[in-house]
Amino acid sequence: MKKIAIIIGARPQFIKHSPVEKALAKFFDVFSIHTGQHYDSKMSEIFFQELGIRPPLFNLSIGSGSHGLQTGKMMIELESILLENRPDAVLVYGDTNSTLAGALVTSKLGIKLIHIEAGLRSFNREMPEEINRVLTDHISNFLFAPTALSVDNLLKEGVSKGVYNVGDVMCDAVLLAKDKIESAGKVEPTGEILVTLHRPYNTDDISRLLSIIEVLNELNIKIIFPLHPRTRNSLLMNKIDLSGFENIKFIDPVSYFDLIKLQLESKCVVTDSGGVQKEAYILERKCITIRPETEWEETLKNGWNTLIFNDLSELAGLIEKEPGEYLPNIYGEGDSARRIAEILNDEL
Ligand code: UD1
Ligand code: UDP
Repeated sequence: MKKIAIIIGARPQFIKHSPVEKALAKFFDVFSIHTGQHYDSKMSEIFFQELGIRPPLFNLSIGSGSHGLQTGKMMIELESILLENRPDAVLVYGDTNSTLAGALVTSKLGIKLIHIEAGLRSFNREMPEEINRVLTDHISNFLFAPTALSVDNLLKEGVSKGVYNVGDVMCDAVLLAKDKIESAGKVEPTGEILVTLHRPYNTDDISRLLSIIEVLNELNIKIIFPLHPRTRNSLLMNKIDLSGFENIKFIDPVSYFDLIKLQLESKCVVTDSGGVQKEAYILERKCITIRPETEWEETLKNGWNTLIFNDLSELAGLIEKEPGEYLPNIYGEGDSARRIAEILNDEL
């Protein structure tokens, strides 16, 4: 059996990895390397347990740090593991520093590189993720793009070899979770709004973060807000008293099934997360995205997702606005991981 090493490190990567690992294991000897970019148990361990993901063969425990420090430390460790274990290919997901570190090391060792979630673009080079994804795409041998738009983005940059439009592996994960939740009992709507925020431009500057939280609190609708550690740390460092926001329930990060259930129960979702925008769409929940742009442009059709950034006063009106026609299956039908495994089995 050919050997594939899979690099994971941040919360959304554990979720993407869950269907992919299972599909690849039918054809390949698969092992994973956890960079340790996310390390709190509610940002990492919880997903391995809930989703039945195999424990990583290596955990680099790199932890947090500046971009250069974090990416550089990952590269040093990854290089020696790949040299020792000599996989036939290395797979990376998405656009985090773990993705870029894995991609650079793999490419320089002359090992085949597989990128899942290729071709996504925000066209905003101030986002570290945009740099990570553009660089990764340009050195990948197999580029699994989730949508036609992402294939077009690659073509415009002259990347066409090894590109496959296979749908989104997150759609596989969401549909499985939805089935599981609904078969455990009826999901009752709570009428609450689910909020997640973690982009540096919304959270690192405390006055920006507080202005968002104040607008949310003034909606006079119950809000549930699982705090990403970046956001929690920003509030803690600035000694913000969270009990002052009477309409918002701040909680720790939750498990994947819990986050999907919260979306299903909610009136709508407010977020700056890439994954949550897509999930809300797949679950047919309206989303309001606090960002100047999105990589997931398909979600914007017919008001299912709306971008707001400078003028937060638009939020109240948007919460009540009904979206138009829903276009199903824009992220695939839940079989992306299987399609990726079959293509790699033929091509590797
Ligand atoms: C990272 C990714 C981002 C992705 C997000 C998913 C990069 C550049 N960014 O952002 O693309 O959307 O993950 O959640 O790769 N921290 C903890 N405990 C943890 C992890 C982080 O306390 O387990 C805190 C640390 O203070 C750290 C901060 O969160 O400095 C940010 O973590 P980091 O992984 O650098 O970036 P994210 O904002 O999580
Ligand atoms: N998520 C979760 N628990 C939470 C918040 C998010 O399981 O408390 C899941 C969410 O359902 C989605 C993924 O984490 O699948 C999104 O990760 P995140 O928002 O951290 O990163 P992004 O997608 O923006 O890169």
